Amino acid sequence: MEVIIRPNAESAVKLTAKLIADSFRAKPDTTIGLATGRTMEALYAELSRMNKEEDLDFSLAKTFNLDEYIGLPAENVNSYRYYMNFHLFNNINIDKRNTHLPNGMAPDDKAEAARYEEEIKHAGGIDIQLLGIGRDGHIGFNEPLSSLGSRTRAKALTPETYAQNSPLFENPEDMPKRAFTMGVGTIMDARRIFMLVTGAEKADVFAKAIEGPVTSMISATALQLHPNVVVVCDEAAAKNLVGREYYDFVFQNEPEWEPYR
Ligand code: GLP
Repeated sequence: MEVIIRPNAESAVKLTAKLIADSFRAKPDTTIGLATGRTMEALYAELSRMNKEEDLDFSLAKTFNLDEYIGLPAENVNSYRYYMNFHLFNNINIDKRNTHLPNGMAPDDKAEAARYEEEIKHAGGIDIQLLGIGRDGHIGFNEPLSSLGSRTRAKALTPETYAQNSPLFENPEDMPKRAFTMGVGTIMDARRIFMLVTGAEKADVFAKAIEGPVTSMISATALQLHPNVVVVCDEAAAKNLVGREYYDFVFQNEPEWEPYR
């Protein structure tokens, strides 16, 4: 795992966008796993800008989102399909037929989860997976005690996640209590993972995720077992990291990071 600490959220976002852009320049038909949440909004704005101003081409991209609320149709402003169209897909030259999310309105949870897993497999797996982190340490919606080997399935959300996300709903009580999410095992199958974490309110759980023992209580700790993870964060999120001096040293001295410094 590489941990890159940038002075502020804006520069963390820019570096993450550059990592993604370089992946697409090296492999224009990259399959990318996408995340939602407030943190990603600035990243999607930057990728949209690069698409317009810097010839970053998404015409051959395939995307798979981590999760979707159960019971929200695509047209609902709080669905993750709506979020993705609004923040990214409508602004870039992607073919929407190549963009995938679980269907929150599917009548059969198990069948929908299996279909989504099959779709990812059929696409040849995920080349790069983008992740944020929830306040309870979840990746996707893999809430505490999610098996570290789990696959896509329906999950009940925790009160903490409910408190974190319900203010985004016009009527907070309209937030669904369940969601489809890729499993931790599904996420771990991605060839490369980029995690973006910003803000002081994530500092505690972030330090536990990166430096704490691996535990299903914090699904993000599973990333410690993945061979190719780059974590980009800002100073505020990094404040409880014990090993930061070494992380900075690696970033400043490894030739791989030269173009990103
Ligand atoms: C949701 C998503 C996660 C995301 C998290 C962070 O819970 N399911 O994938 O990482 O939000 O949200 P924010 O960036 O708003 O803190």
